[in-house]
Amino acid sequence: MLFQLKQKILKEISQAKDLNSLEEIYKKYLGRQGELTKVLRSLKELSEKERKEKGKLANQIKEEIAEKIKARGTKFSGKTNPALADKKEWIDVTAPGILPVQGHFHPISLVQRQIEEIFQSMGFSVLDGPEIETEYYNFDALNIPKNHPARDLWDTFWLKDIDLLLRTHTSPMQARYMEKHQPPLRIIVPGRCFRHEATDVSHDVQFYQIEGLMVGQDVSMVHFKGVIEGFLKRFFGPEVRMRLRPGHFPFTEPSFEVDIKRKGPVSTKASAGKQDWLEIMGAGMVHPNVFKAVGYLPGKWQGFAFGVGLDRLAMLKYQIDDIRLFYNGDLRFLKQF
Ligand code: DAH
Repeated sequence: MLFQLKQKILKEISQAKDLNSLEEIYKKYLGRQGELTKVLRSLKELSEKERKEKGKLANQIKEEIAEKIKARGTKFSGKTNPALADKKEWIDVTAPGILPVQGHFHPISLVQRQIEEIFQSMGFSVLDGPEIETEYYNFDALNIPKNHPARDLWDTFWLKDIDLLLRTHTSPMQARYMEKHQPPLRIIVPGRCFRHEATDVSHDVQFYQIEGLMVGQDVSMVHFKGVIEGFLKRFFGPEVRMRLRPGHFPFTEPSFEVDIKRKGPVSTKASAGKQDWLEIMGAGMVHPNVFKAVGYLPGKWQGFAFGVGLDRLAMLKYQIDDIRLFYNGDLRFLKQF
């Protein structure tokens, strides 16, 4: 009879779903009015011999059951019930951990960091410039005088009531830097720019550029080709090809546009229908008027400058077909990087 009771209790323990039901079981069998407690109490009515035998067995069963309840109780919760277990703290080292949410870099930042590293390894310093600019640095110092039609190339956000604007390119930092430093110099300036334009897959009102400038006594187009080709090969891989096309920018003479071609057709919405040469940057030899504006002797110094679209490079690298994805904060997009 005792043995059957034990089996019954053990079965209930193994079926208990939580601490509360375990507590119920404890009360039902081992509590003051518990079934097993009653059996133990009734022992005193038995003969001495019987009491000895049965008593030993009943006590064993009682201990075993208390032990089982305790063991099962620790499975359910860290809060050990004093009725069920010792008050010791415990930790389940086999439970799977919960990964903390971890932030990560925006694709634009990733690409920017990579480009900075490449240029730094070629001796370029990385600078920052103001996003709110004066008309002078954004235009005049770059050989784009007031009322000159060339200003129309940059649809500008003018700030209300003050004589400032949101920079339309990173080029103003060329003048800001050269005013304060003497050649030889090598700098890149990554940063955000703004244009008052309608948006589409390849244009947004904000975007990132990296400006580059290298000036010395004999810096020529050869240096430009070497630096840019070196950069592109490290950024896209050794199979990338580049070509220069004549272009026009007021702050360079001669000016050119740089196109690249990668292995295999690059097909994105932004490039659909166009030839597989893709324009990625504007560049040229620094115009003497820019040197004059910053107080350099034009005959003495020469150098190249370039402006490359960071978004463009990121889009090509990661095959993203809409520039607006970078700025709308959609986590489904951002979490892929
Ligand atoms: N600032 C030009 C733009 O935003 C890009 C550019 C072209 C920068 C030629 C340069 C350059 O430094 O030499 O369209």
